[in-house]
Amino acid sequence: MTDFPSLKNDLLIRAAYCEEVERTPVWAMRQAGRYLKEFQEVRAKHDFFTVCRTPELACEVTLQPLRRFDLDAAIIFSDILVIPQALGMEVQMVPGKGPVFPKPLIHPNEIKALNQDPDIDKELGYVFDAITLTRKKLEGKVPLIGFSGAPWTLMAYMVEGGSSATFSKARAWLFQYPEESELLLNLLTNTIIKYLVNQVKAGAQTLQVFESHAGILGSSTFAKFSLQYLSRIASGVKKELSDLGISRVPLIVFAKGAHYALEELSATDYDVISLDWTIDPKRAREISSAKGKALQGNLDPAVLYGSPDSINCATKRMVEAFGARGHIANLGHGMYPDLKPESLKAFVDTVHSASQECIKN
Ligand code: CP3
Repeated sequence: MTDFPSLKNDLLIRAAYCEEVERTPVWAMRQAGRYLKEFQEVRAKHDFFTVCRTPELACEVTLQPLRRFDLDAAIIFSDILVIPQALGMEVQMVPGKGPVFPKPLIHPNEIKALNQDPDIDKELGYVFDAITLTRKKLEGKVPLIGFSGAPWTLMAYMVEGGSSATFSKARAWLFQYPEESELLLNLLTNTIIKYLVNQVKAGAQTLQVFESHAGILGSSTFAKFSLQYLSRIASGVKKELSDLGISRVPLIVFAKGAHYALEELSATDYDVISLDWTIDPKRAREISSAKGKALQGNLDPAVLYGSPDSINCATKRMVEAFGARGHIANLGHGMYPDLKPESLKAFVDTVHSASQECIKN
């Protein structure tokens, strides 16, 4: 592994392991994105996946929010859909529409046509190069988070062919073709484990797994088609990292909408459970604390449309409800493109001031 500058702010790592902190670390999902005019300037010149595939551009947009806000982590600029691309599927990012797969999976016999054993370093080397470059450019200021989509969420896009309110085609597969769905979820799981381990080898210091579409599954479907794969990813990544002698890389899982499975998620090998805003922090603590898990989240991003006073108030309430140990402050989902950057600043600064106050008293 490359020698990197040593980490000056390790609040996020300590909070992930429920260790003592002097203030609550904070970052925001989609902290790099269209709500920043400097991001829009880059996007005006380059297509979305060109930014992902060009390490200098991915590094630049990763660092943009850190120049504006006192954030405690950077997250590498990429997308969860680079995995379906590595398996051989075409994905376009269409402005105003989101991701589009011109040839989605229609019948399970098409699974065979996917790359069954992709050469991750070859297919996704650009992500690892972007991580290594960003880690150097960060100069140890804050930790760099790597990420992947989770198997069910990736399958949902691969079958549906794009975003959807119901993902009914993808959900239909789980009942029409349960065995073939499991085959696909297994292929994704094995690929994701290698992808995440290689991100750490390239310089990622924390990993987050996004199960963005957990909320459209019921608890038994979630257990069968999501949880067991999420769980295998955490144990598989931990085992490979420990075989490589790498320690202290916290794993975060964000299963959006899966508050019904918080107890089960707390029993996996993830160190941090990321929450959306539909669960009360105190209730989440009650459920997860027996397993000693740290929690991440969970301010409703819509709060950031409110006045500075109302942002301060809601953020303070959130910080107090989670308490200062084992909490990474974040939004309950990503920044929306029409939010004002000043609103994120109010959130970040309030997390810092309110948590310092909490710890003093
Ligand atoms: O700052 C960061 O958080 C890092 C970058 C990041 C992006 N996508 C950049 C992006 C991360 C972590 C993701 C993850 C991602 N991508 C998820 C999981 C998180 C979530 O939101 O639930 C999902 C579901 C995707 C798939 C995806 N990518 C969708 C559905 C869309 C369209 C929605 C939209 O906001 O337009 C994208 C596009 C995308 N990914 C953008 C960004 C900044 C906006 C597109 C653009 O710049 O044109």
